[in-house]
Amino acid sequence: MRPTLYLCLMLMPCLPLLLGCHAVRHGGISLGSQRMALLHWKATLASPPLQMSSWQEKTSPCNWTGIMCMAVRHGRRMPWVVTNISLPDAGIRGQLGELNFSALPFLTHIDLHNNNLHGALPASISSLTALSVLVLHHNQLIGKIPYEIGSLESLRLLELSFNRLTGHIPPSLGNLTMLTDLLINQNMVSGLVPEEIGRLVNLHTLQLSNSTLSGMIPKTLGNLTRLNILYLFGNQLSGPIPQELGRLVRLKVLGLNSNDFSGPIPIFIANLTKMNQLFLYDNQITGSIPPELGSLTMLNQLVLHENQISGTIPPELGNLTMLDTFTLFTNQISGLIPIELGTLMNLRESREDL
Ligand SMILES: *[C@@H]1O[C@H](CO)[C@@H](O)[C@H](O)[C@H]1NC(C)=O
Ligand SMILES: *[C@@H]1O[C@H](CO)[C@@H](O)[C@H](O)[C@H]1NC(C)=O
Ligand SMILES: *[C@@H]1O[C@H](CO)[C@@H](O)[C@H](O)[C@H]1NC(C)=O
Ligand SMILES: *[C@@H]1O[C@H](CO)[C@@H](O)[C@H](O)[C@H]1NC(C)=O
Ligand SMILES: *[C@@H]1O[C@H](CO)[C@@H](O)[C@H](O)[C@H]1NC(C)=O
Ligand SMILES: *[C@@H]1O[C@H](CO)[C@@H](O)[C@H](O)[C@H]1NC(C)=O
Ligand SMILES: *[C@@H]1O[C@H](CO)[C@@H](O)[C@H](O)[C@H]1NC(C)=O
Ligand SMILES: *[C@@H]1O[C@H](CO)[C@@H](O)[C@H](O)[C@H]1NC(C)=O
Repeated sequence: MRPTLYLCLMLMPCLPLLLGCHAVRHGGISLGSQRMALLHWKATLASPPLQMSSWQEKTSPCNWTGIMCMAVRHGRRMPWVVTNISLPDAGIRGQLGELNFSALPFLTHIDLHNNNLHGALPASISSLTALSVLVLHHNQLIGKIPYEIGSLESLRLLELSFNRLTGHIPPSLGNLTMLTDLLINQNMVSGLVPEEIGRLVNLHTLQLSNSTLSGMIPKTLGNLTRLNILYLFGNQLSGPIPQELGRLVRLKVLGLNSNDFSGPIPIFIANLTKMNQLFLYDNQITGSIPPELGSLTMLNQLVLHENQISGTIPPELGNLTMLDTFTLFTNQISGLIPIELGTLMNLRESREDL
């Protein structure tokens, strides 16, 4: 063990330990080289936005708009390091590939959502092993999500929605077991939902809507027992809804609409008693409405239209006192609306929708 590393271990608790040891590992990268990397990136942008006018050669990057720093212990010194880049909605036009990530090893937060970032999400981003938040939604990113993203072992939030990413969702994402929120809505990713996603047992939010994902829902998603929100809508997913999802007892929102799911509305859904919103519309769902749905007493939206659901509406749905939206049109429902539903005071406008 080198003496500097020893000192570093002696003096630093917790997070500073992590960051400080990075300093050692990366040969004590100076604030100067971090500034250089940021200024180089600014120089590659097409007309740098106003927010970046404080990004100047002679000043500390820690004083720049959108940059935050932290002092970390490094041996006997306490150098400042750049930890945050936060410039959402800033009109930044440029490429992330021009940002020298190996010069910024202390980054914990990157939030550049709602800009004009184009080009690929570079594999070099994988050097940011302290990165905990990566928020890049509403940009113009293209290409694949790099396999190397599986090395961002500290990542808790990954938000890549509303870009133009293609290719498969890399199975290496399954290594990011600290993730609590994974959002890749509205892109052009295709192929299967990797079963490795089922290893992300800390996930609260999993949103993979509006792309061209296909195949079945992997059974492993039943291991994500902390999930509150699961969005898979707007894809080409097919097959039955796997009964393993009955283990997601904290689920509040389940959005499976606008896919090719077949088979009946599964009875296990009655297990998900925290459910507020259940979207199954625009699928190939058959069979009748299970009376067990009447036990989802927190339900306020039950959206089942455009399927091939048959049979009658079970009177048990009269127990759904919170229900304010219930749609069933374009199905093969027979019989009358049960009188029990007439007592649902919250149910607005959906009479015609039925
Ligand atoms: C940041 O700017 C202020 C003045 O605006 C200056 O006093 C301070 O020394 C600067 N800090 C660093 C770290 O450069
Ligand atoms: C970095 O940004 C996050 C999220 O906005 C914030 O919680 C954190 O305190 C910031 N870090 C520093 C060193 O300012
Ligand atoms: C990126 O930064 C590292 C560390 O400062 C440096 O060694 C390397 O030469 C830089 N790469 C480029 C392309 O500037
Ligand atoms: C991540 O997971 C893949 C398989 O899912 C594995 O092959 C790889 O070695 C893991 N490690 C990293 C750092 O990506
Ligand atoms: C998904 O697509 C629909 C229809 O184009 C759109 O209204 C919705 O905002 C999108 N939502 C997400 C989360 O991608
Ligand atoms: C997750 O789910 C699958 C299938 O349901 C199961 O085989 C596996 O053992 C589960 N546990 C873990 C930790 O992946
Ligand atoms: C219902 O939830 C419990 C946990 O509360 C779980 O043990 C059980 O397997 C679930 N049943 C189904 C059918 O998924
Ligand atoms: C729900 O409604 C049905 C018929 O309206 C009733 O028999 C039943 O006891 C109610 N309660 C539950 C928890 O399903």
